[in-house]
Amino acid sequence: MVMFRCHGCGAEVDAGVRLAFRCPNSSLGGDDVDHVLAVKSEAPSPSIGNETDPFLRYRAWLSPYRLARSSGLADSAWGDLVGQLDQALTAIDGRGFRVTPMADQRPLAEAIGLPGALWVKDETHNVSGSHKARHLMGVMLYLRILEAARLPAGENLRARRLAIASCGNAALAAAVVARAAEWPLDVFIPPDADMSVKARLKELGAQITICDRRSGEAGDPCYLRFREAVASGAIPFGVQGTDNGLAIEGGRTLAFEMAEEFSRVGTVPDALFVQVGGGALASALAQGLALAHANGLLSSLPKLFAVQTAGCAPLARAWERLSGVDLPTAVRTRSQFMWPWETTPVSLAHGILDDETYDWWSIAEGMRASGGSTVVVDETQVSAAHKAGRLHTDIVASATGTAGLAGVIAKPEAGKQIAVIFSGIER
Ligand SMILES: Cc1ncc(COP(=O)(O)O)c(C=O)c1O
Repeated sequence: MVMFRCHGCGAEVDAGVRLAFRCPNSSLGGDDVDHVLAVKSEAPSPSIGNETDPFLRYRAWLSPYRLARSSGLADSAWGDLVGQLDQALTAIDGRGFRVTPMADQRPLAEAIGLPGALWVKDETHNVSGSHKARHLMGVMLYLRILEAARLPAGENLRARRLAIASCGNAALAAAVVARAAEWPLDVFIPPDADMSVKARLKELGAQITICDRRSGEAGDPCYLRFREAVASGAIPFGVQGTDNGLAIEGGRTLAFEMAEEFSRVGTVPDALFVQVGGGALASALAQGLALAHANGLLSSLPKLFAVQTAGCAPLARAWERLSGVDLPTAVRTRSQFMWPWETTPVSLAHGILDDETYDWWSIAEGMRASGGSTVVVDETQVSAAHKAGRLHTDIVASATGTAGLAGVIAKPEAGKQIAVIFSGIER
């Protein structure tokens, strides 16, 4: 049995009996609690395999794998499922999941005036061109295990479509993973979504719904249509932890890979700068590094710096308001800390302009535990990071993908050794 627990209200969900996505109390409304489901207890001393596919290598760290084993499936059944998806991903996207490279980029460090090491984890050649597919592969493996083990939560699952609200890397990742699993996907996008993204989504067989703003309606119309689809039975296949807590887990593989590499090299960076939009990436890293630390892979925790742009910084606003407040109180008074950004933001790093940081709480927990903070960057810094990344490395990352580096430019005194993630390719 694998239990999930809401970090806000404490509700528990047996992941084999009911989909462990959204907290069952979150729809009740009016309680001002931050409802997010997360696995209740982590695997004790999980082993690391010798495979190069992170979903095999770190399988013992993943709750879908634990669910598979506790439901009577053999280790080889997991290997078969991951292997089938890997073959399909390779056919569709030219690659499956493999541990991605990380290196100390000396010329880049020198160019931005850093005296010490600058570790850059390169996600631009990950499945679908960004880290996002990791989140969705974790969710897909859970769905496949529910089917394979014939668990109650998996009943009639194939009759339900997958749904996501996004017009960028998350949508592309969802479409690639859904196609690999031959699972129909609905993508809710705004009218001005990028033509090339739309074309690729269609090529991958996703059903696109263009969401116009309706008069008198507040909030993101794509997200509202997505919520309606989920209310009518669609499976939430997005990366926002509030709608799908399990999405965070797959993203943790990124932290495990980094921790293992730091352990191999015999170092721990002083600081990790992460670009934050909806918050799933930073939340997965905070949780993953904490787990790696608890299991002896890291001797200390790098300080977590969450980077947002001046145009849209709801997490930085929350962080300021959190001063002097304990997190158990904050989780029960969500509206004091997190609400949608009031103005329509613009930035070169447009992938991190989510008007809410959905996963704000566990990022705050990670920043507190490690002694980090938020960093707000201006457009000059966003642009400088993008240019420096292109000029001084051979990684072709987008401005969103290099936005963590903009945080380093803003706060170079954060440590002698610094780590960042180039999280998405330039399209
Ligand atoms: C390349 C890239 N990096 C980082 C992020 C931020 O991730 P999150 O929304 O989980 O904070 C995004 C989000 O779209 C992205 O596309």
